[in-house]
Amino acid sequence: MAAELIDGKKLAAETRAQIAAGVAALKAEKGVTPGLAVILVGDNPASVSYVTAKEKACVEAGMNSHEIRLSADVAEADLLAEIARLNADPAIHGILVQLPLPKGFGEHKVIDAIAPEKDVDGFTPVNVGKMLIGEDCFLPCTPHGIVKLIEVTGMDLAGKHAVVIGRSNIVGKPVAVLLARRNVNATVTLCHTGTPDVGAFTRQADVVVVAAGHPNTLTGDMLKPGAVVIDVGVNRVPDATKPKGYRLCGDADFASCSAVASAITPVPGGVGPMTITMLLWNTLEAARRAAK
Ligand code: GUN
Repeated sequence: MAAELIDGKKLAAETRAQIAAGVAALKAEKGVTPGLAVILVGDNPASVSYVTAKEKACVEAGMNSHEIRLSADVAEADLLAEIARLNADPAIHGILVQLPLPKGFGEHKVIDAIAPEKDVDGFTPVNVGKMLIGEDCFLPCTPHGIVKLIEVTGMDLAGKHAVVIGRSNIVGKPVAVLLARRNVNATVTLCHTGTPDVGAFTRQADVVVVAAGHPNTLTGDMLKPGAVVIDVGVNRVPDATKPKGYRLCGDADFASCSAVASAITPVPGGVGPMTITMLLWNTLEAARRAAK
């Protein structure tokens, strides 16, 4: 039987309606409109489309979006000065620097310049450390969205085996941490490019989160029947039949995985909308804290 589709768009729409209501209440009660600053350095096409989607969603939720576009050859000192200015601006509650930065930038240095109370991506060392030790903090958006997507399948992750493929700072490592936290209580295996036989692990998994950045990283023969698959990949594959000359596909081979899994996220329309939603969530929370 074909797997059920985990509808990220639907969950995102429901959650964004709650966020929009929270934004309206904050405006009415405190006169505060959440403000998100989105910094894009350079013109990487995928990054341009991500930040455009984030800004649009921000405005749709009733928030103020501040777009900061810098050329790829901006001096790192100027980028850091821009972040310092935003840190000090009371109308800005959240700051996001779209990654990856062009070659030559010290990514850690740039992220570390964001004030932790405005770090709505949850990328600064302070927020990453708090997440690790279970303190209240801004959770990183894609991993947080993934936990919500697994929840809507109805699967109780406590005692289940989750296999994560990919060890990026943005997805793989933090999602492994969130799934292993006591409130979720999964047993977690983190596979990566140094894992000789990923299938040996995924075949034992109740949930597989694939965030490797390559199409066909996960195929149906690597799954236990009935597993839940969360596909984080967004890959552009050349396709002359499409108006843009490419189509999007995930890291999982959708046809073979959906024949074995019980539920799977589509690409697009799965994880992506939830990433943006959790960004709005964090921005509203940052504004609420600032208004207290
Ligand atoms: N690049 C890919 N995903 C993300 C994200 O969630 N936040 C930022 N800032 N950059 C990204």
